Amino acid sequence: MDYEAHYQQYLAEIEGYLSGLFLSSAPYHELQEAMRYSLLSGGKRVRPVLTAAFAQLFGGDWRTAVPLGCALELVHTYSLIHDDLPCMDNDDLRRGKPTCHKVYGETLAVLAGDALQPEAFAILAGAEGLSARQRAEAVAVLARACGADGMVAGQVLDIQGLDRTEEDLRLLHSLKTGAMIRGAALLGCVAADAGEKQKSDAKAYADALGLAFQIRDDMLDVIADEEDLGKPVGSDRKEGKTTFVDLLGLTRCSELVDECTGRAKAAIAGYPGSDFLLELADIMAKRKK
Ligand code: IPE
Ligand code: IPE
Ligand code: MG
Ligand code: MG
Ligand code: MG
Repeated sequence: MDYEAHYQQYLAEIEGYLSGLFLSSAPYHELQEAMRYSLLSGGKRVRPVLTAAFAQLFGGDWRTAVPLGCALELVHTYSLIHDDLPCMDNDDLRRGKPTCHKVYGETLAVLAGDALQPEAFAILAGAEGLSARQRAEAVAVLARACGADGMVAGQVLDIQGLDRTEEDLRLLHSLKTGAMIRGAALLGCVAADAGEKQKSDAKAYADALGLAFQIRDDMLDVIADEEDLGKPVGSDRKEGKTTFVDLLGLTRCSELVDECTGRAKAAIAGYPGSDFLLELADIMAKRKK
């Protein structure tokens, strides 16, 4: 199967799973609508794809892993809803559509984000086809990825807006973006009941991919076309953020993305069946959105 067909196979399962969530017609259905508005607005789904692909790489059933990746995607979606709020990046466009707070108001956007988090953990706690130990491990992996020493810590560093060195930015990126990408890969390992060596190779791949991913995100904030990107261009500058582009310039950023991509690929190239994840790293390095 070629790369695109492989991605589409994962994507169909992921979109199918996500579109079955939060359909209640309770008196508070506006909450569910706000959650679905952001969840089903056409993200790349790279994190759940990583979960499925790592489960498959390490001999697991990738379909069993899809709900785990989708749980992490719920948390990712909450992080984007809150990231776009006026108190954070104050952006009006996300995935090519008005941001959640522009459509539903700030209060409901905050609450939609709030609700997405526990719902993610409920999916992990009840995941089918896994042992109780695997479920508990999945809960711990997601909690670490998004918690006080993970994504949220990165968001805190991001909004502090200090003068930054390259070291500061590497730490910021490894927390705000790397932690969730690492979590996505590790959830695939949990689903496949992978061994310690496999987990540490998956982590090495995800850490390098995560850094490349956020540097590319910073580059796209400068060089992308808003139509392609689906979110505002120039948002970082408007908010006074120091990014890798400010620090190193576009050419050096490009080289760094290539270096990180090479490191990511080297970590897993020895595994039979790694071609999909190798190509994914290359494609993410050149992505336009
Ligand atoms: C955006 O993530 C936020 C970052 C961590 C850079 P993605 O680029 O994966 O956004 P979607 O989910 O595809 O919209
Ligand atoms: C946000 O980083 C990462 C999150 C934890 C949500 P950015 O603020 O750079 O993400 P975009 O560019 O708005 O997607
Ligand atoms: Mg931000
Ligand atoms: Mg932002
Ligand atoms: Mg950005």
